[in-house]
Amino acid sequence: MKLLKPRMAALGCMCLMTAFLLYYSNKMPFLACTGEDLYDEEGELASGKPIVLLWFWPLGVKFNFKTCAKHFNVSSCALTAQRSLYGVADAVIFYHKEIAWQLLNMPADPRPPFQKWIWFNVESPTNTERKAGLEDLFNLTLSYRRDADITVRNELTIRPTKTNDPFVLPKKDKLVCWIVSNKDPNTGTALRERYYQQLAKHIDIHMFGKAFNGRSLPYEDYYPTIASCKFYLSFENSIHRDYITEKVNGPLVAGTVPVVLGPPRDNYQQFLPTESFIHVDDFQDPKSLADFLLHLDQSHEEYMRYFEWRRFNKATPHLLSMDYEFIHPVCLACEHMSKDQGYRVKRDLYKWYFS
Ligand SMILES: *[C@@H]1O[C@H](CO)[C@@H](O)[C@H](O)[C@H]1NC(C)=O
Ligand SMILES: *[C@@H]1O[C@H](CO)[C@@H](O)[C@H](O)[C@H]1NC(C)=O
Repeated sequence: MKLLKPRMAALGCMCLMTAFLLYYSNKMPFLACTGEDLYDEEGELASGKPIVLLWFWPLGVKFNFKTCAKHFNVSSCALTAQRSLYGVADAVIFYHKEIAWQLLNMPADPRPPFQKWIWFNVESPTNTERKAGLEDLFNLTLSYRRDADITVRNELTIRPTKTNDPFVLPKKDKLVCWIVSNKDPNTGTALRERYYQQLAKHIDIHMFGKAFNGRSLPYEDYYPTIASCKFYLSFENSIHRDYITEKVNGPLVAGTVPVVLGPPRDNYQQFLPTESFIHVDDFQDPKSLADFLLHLDQSHEEYMRYFEWRRFNKATPHLLSMDYEFIHPVCLACEHMSKDQGYRVKRDLYKWYFS
């Protein structure tokens, strides 16, 4: 038998205690000990791996932790949502939106000295509430920002030089498309809405999505719909550094040219090849952009230049359903915890995030 680390012994203890308590409160005994998620593929307790506790299900959406191994090749920690394991967890992930204003739904027990708290937020600053009391609580940040401790993004990958699958442009029967699910001006969308209104005066835009006709586009139609358009409006809801989302990844995957509205071109170029997208800032006004798109529609050769990058790089489809939106960051946190043994503090969280 392998030697158990002290905290694994502590875990055993806690489990026994929990089972005992549950037994006497006449509920299912051993509930806390048999949570599948703490077991690895062979059914053995994932001893030696760090325990990472997800304190809230983000937006109440539950997902299967096994997805980490299946989709992201991450199995280097034991993920759990059982709060009874708080005392032994190496890290606890807190989804910012779920934290109550008075912090009343945060752990009441003192934090064990070895435990790291991870601030998990994938919303832009415009859509992040400044809840008081969180400024100096966390050890690690998990966000789309490049300077976060754990960065979660859709990154292009390098295409192996030997692969020989030339790009075939998908069949196009629309010029410009936009799938839009949110039009609430409180979330910062007024700017993109204005730009769209102006642009639509000069060029036809095919609209889809909840904010357009009250119907969400089915997941299975997402990539085919984008692929059927020559250009896709990748308009972010609010403008912030590094806030470049799956709205750009979608067309890059589908074989469509994204027209981006978001942070300045320079920021996009830190993540994407210069000639893989069109930036609204490259044009004096929406009419000039419309003219350019109409011009590209007539010039196949020039249009195809926006796909040259594909010889060297590859875009990876992002998973579409809600559960996948949150599981990816959680898997990355899991992977991070298997490597990060160091002491960490994140001082002045909001100064970092909002400035
Ligand atoms: C999965 O991860 C392991 C360990 O990090 C690595 O050795 C292996 O090559 C990875 N497999 C794939 C398909 O990426
Ligand atoms: C985590 O951060 C807290 C708050 O800054 C700090 O008190 C604690 O020592 C840190 N723990 C670790 C393991 O880095």
